Amino acid sequence: MARGRFITFEGGEGAGKSTQVQRLAARLKAGGREVVTTREPGGSPGAESIRDLVLRGSADRWSPVTETLLMYAARRDHIERVIAPALARGAWVICDRFADSTRAYQGGAGDVDAGLITALETHILDGVHPNLTLVFDLPVDVGLERAHVRAGAEMRFESKGAAFHERLRKAFLAIAAREPDRCAVIDATGAMDAVEAAVWAAVAGRLAVHG
Ligand code: TMP
Repeated sequence: MARGRFITFEGGEGAGKSTQVQRLAARLKAGGREVVTTREPGGSPGAESIRDLVLRGSADRWSPVTETLLMYAARRDHIERVIAPALARGAWVICDRFADSTRAYQGGAGDVDAGLITALETHILDGVHPNLTLVFDLPVDVGLERAHVRAGAEMRFESKGAAFHERLRKAFLAIAAREPDRCAVIDATGAMDAVEAAVWAAVAGRLAVHG
């Protein structure tokens, strides 16, 4: 059976991932590929309902362990109904956040035990791992400033304070350093076109894509 490719975008708040997901998808589609763009938490009807629960309300509405379980409930549904079927038919799946966000937000910044997160990865991901992960990196103050500009109801994580977001940035960079074959760090401070070029260089170089 054909196997597609799975690309994830990761990083802190206000890094500009969503715009770049769309730009990469357009470029891959122009090369004649089937491309599925999706996001977490969410991406399937059930997972979108969980997203509403977990991203709205006060910062202390859920503990980091409860968040971890909600994120994994959403992720499992998303994998079963959207990601795994798309990969099985040979599509390219581009996902705005995935398992590294749980490691960084709930684990690195939220102090959830790494053993619990590893166990969930082992039992719940069902062997679905990204071929490439783009870690968008930028200074915390720049990211939070951008996130506040587009602020809506989904503010639970943006409102957690600068120290949380500094730990988060470190956690993402640690993941990238630990898995350099899978992860590329993208400097997200530049203009959109410069970031798009960096994303494309990483995709083309690591996944041997032409056009
Ligand atoms: P976003 O759509 O702006 O990326 O918002 C999703 C929020 O959810 C963001 O603040 C990060 C958070 N999140 C986690 O804390 N853990 C996770 O596993 C995922 C996927 C997202």
